[in-house]
Amino acid sequence: MTVIKVAILGFGTVGEGVYRTIQSHAEELTASLGKKVEVAAVLIKNKQKERNISEDVLITTEFADVLSLPQLDIVVEAIVDKEPTFSFLKKAIERGCHIITANKEMFAHHGKELLDLAEKNNVSVGFEATVAGGIPVIQTLRQLLNINRVQKVQGILNGTSNFILTEMREKKQSFAQALQLAQENGFAEADPTNDVEGFDAFYKTMILSRIAFGEEPNWRDVERKGITAITSELIETAETLGLRFKHIACISRLGNQIKATVKPALVGTEHPFYHVEGVQNAINVHSDIVGAITLQGPGAGMFPTASAIIEDLVYVCQNPPAKRSVSSAGDTATILKKGQIKEIWLVHGLSNIQTSSSITKIEHVAEETFIIMAAKKDVEQLAKLEAALVYYPILGEYAPVHQPTTITAL
Ligand code: HSE
Repeated sequence: MTVIKVAILGFGTVGEGVYRTIQSHAEELTASLGKKVEVAAVLIKNKQKERNISEDVLITTEFADVLSLPQLDIVVEAIVDKEPTFSFLKKAIERGCHIITANKEMFAHHGKELLDLAEKNNVSVGFEATVAGGIPVIQTLRQLLNINRVQKVQGILNGTSNFILTEMREKKQSFAQALQLAQENGFAEADPTNDVEGFDAFYKTMILSRIAFGEEPNWRDVERKGITAITSELIETAETLGLRFKHIACISRLGNQIKATVKPALVGTEHPFYHVEGVQNAINVHSDIVGAITLQGPGAGMFPTASAIIEDLVYVCQNPPAKRSVSSAGDTATILKKGQIKEIWLVHGLSNIQTSSSITKIEHVAEETFIIMAAKKDVEQLAKLEAALVYYPILGEYAPVHQPTTITAL
């Protein structure tokens, strides 16, 4: 039987998960591919560290050693930073290897270049693990895009942020305690600023945008905020209103433009993200034929990420390189008005809010905390005048606690 030879770059949480899964699911891989899958080399940083890797595997700190293996079919990349990763993967493609990456930052910056180079060299690129951990969102979108026109994608894309918000609410942990636990569980990035300030979710959003819409928004125009301004007190106040904080990416097409935001928002019990807890991620795709689909699953961690990579391993072997699908514009009539339409907000940091023609006060829920209805531009105007103001949109429907009626955000 012929053999597929794999090199794994990096042996942290993800690299080790891939190595162990190739061993534990050897039979399934052989059955699927008709060939045995073997790890031929592992690229590491620190030679002194103890690792449980078979003696037959080349363990090296030099990428050149990996490239000069007599047979090399697939390179799985599980290291951080854009460089030297990007250069390694270009060389692997030029050598004729399929590549699989879990590196969001690198792929958001260089994905197009890698896909073009792979096409030229007649190899494939797997990048399922770059977005939403174990959820097969890239494959789902690829399949959905054949005929459906995607109109909007919303997602909880960072497991660490969702884990921290859940721990703070459910277990009354401090932000620092919850972050430490996320790090101990192997969810957080090497630099967790990427998680809690929204950069990691931002990179994933750009990758999703390219798949869903065939293009990305101008990066400078994307509003990106993390979860660091959300205090335990605000989380408790939201809880009394039946609302939960979630860190949400939203991408939609606005005429010929793609618009995206990556920031915290509040959701009520009716929203599909309300029960997405802990390290879970979720993606809600609205498209014209099927309507709304929600995918949910583990967004980070050793085996969820290994699952995405191992499925990609089968995908790259079985699928010739294909041009990326480009989705056509959806019906944008309602989206076009966004920015001017009124939405519901939780605002904190003002002693009072006067109802005016542009802002309607709905509830005074706690000290300096109000629910209001206003257009985004008017809330931003308010924030310019009050430096301490924080504001979060409430997605979906909001039923005021002290009033029986339901107000629907537009
Ligand atoms: N740090 C990332 C997260 C890992 O928490 O979502 C998975 O991409």
